[in-house]
Amino acid sequence: MSESFEAFKIAENVYWVGAIDWDVQDFHGYLTSRGSTYNAYLIIDEKITLIDTVKGPFFKEMLSRIAHVIDPKKIDYIVSNHSEMDHTGSLPQTIAAVSPEKVFASKMGARALGNHFHSLNQEITVVGDGDSLALGEMNLSFVGTPLCHWPDSMVSYLNERGILFSQDVFGMHLASSERFADQLDESVLDYEAGKYYANIMLHLSGMVSKALVKMEKLKSGLSMIAPDHGPIRRTKEDVDSIIESYGRWSRQEPCKKAVVVYDTMWGSTAKMAQVIGDGIAASGIVVKLMAMSSSHRSNVATEILDAGALVVGSPTINNSIFPTIADVMCYLSGLKPKNLVGGAFGSHGWSGEATKKLQEMLENLGCDMIGDPLRVEYVPDDDALKQCHQFGERIAERLLKACDG
Ligand code: FEO
Repeated sequence: MSESFEAFKIAENVYWVGAIDWDVQDFHGYLTSRGSTYNAYLIIDEKITLIDTVKGPFFKEMLSRIAHVIDPKKIDYIVSNHSEMDHTGSLPQTIAAVSPEKVFASKMGARALGNHFHSLNQEITVVGDGDSLALGEMNLSFVGTPLCHWPDSMVSYLNERGILFSQDVFGMHLASSERFADQLDESVLDYEAGKYYANIMLHLSGMVSKALVKMEKLKSGLSMIAPDHGPIRRTKEDVDSIIESYGRWSRQEPCKKAVVVYDTMWGSTAKMAQVIGDGIAASGIVVKLMAMSSSHRSNVATEILDAGALVVGSPTINNSIFPTIADVMCYLSGLKPKNLVGGAFGSHGWSGEATKKLQEMLENLGCDMIGDPLRVEYVPDDDALKQCHQFGERIAERLLKACDG
């Protein structure tokens, strides 16, 4: 018996025909501990339309789900909302299998598809912001959302059903057999949606804000958000909640939480981190200590999303910073978190270059630095630990002022 997958009806004449990737753990440097889904959607109307496809290795799964509803060759239109390969990896195979009348994408999408596949053997029909496409009884409207996530990104709105096919926006990496958010644990959804925003959208927050303003116009009729990753939101509460979260995350307002990131060679920088954390927490601020020996860079980015201070410690090794700290700082420099109080600290043996480099890196991130880095030669004694506590207290004081200001 050949492997067979079923489609999942999400509204009248609208089906989820995507793929579930239970195993993926790494999404270009982002730890996806709960796997992911690549969502594709099938609309049955006079013009049968497929919204997005799936990552290359999952082509047969998608085709099997489509075949559960109709003969895939009956598909007339394919809409490519976003050209990243997790949504277009199987587009060439889909075009070959379906021979669609038309494939639609944004102008930048058409260019990206050309530059990915080179010989797609299919003309791409460009659609712009505000354009509509009649499918028969139903109509799709396209809204340009450039840089949410790539320059090509757009979303498609099925007017008669109030369904927003939102590509990466409002998504999360979460594999599940359930298709709807209201069937899943709310705390898991909140964490994974935040993690997705922190690792994919954070540095694009300005563009997210613009996209939210555009999507606000849809809000009165919006009944469902169908993203390209993770569960579909069908209740008003779930729809409103993710839109509210995106608004808050995109503003990056400082919160009363500090993230202390560090690594250690012989335990001295770890001791400093612990006492600095105690000094911050003494003012009632939530502190998250993250040793990079056991923390993933993408989890650090997630914790920073609702924090107001980033404090980083590194021992000096070979006149430089610890490799794990260099990794997370490089990652964060790309994600560009904003509105953070910053502090650098570390233990050293000779010249102690690590804290100087860290200070520069945090300044380059735009952190409001608490002052010079806190440095300890070799092992902190009682006096040095007292300075660590005071360093933490100063960070707390600056953060409280930023939150209240
Ligand atoms: Fe899910 Fe930007 O691709």
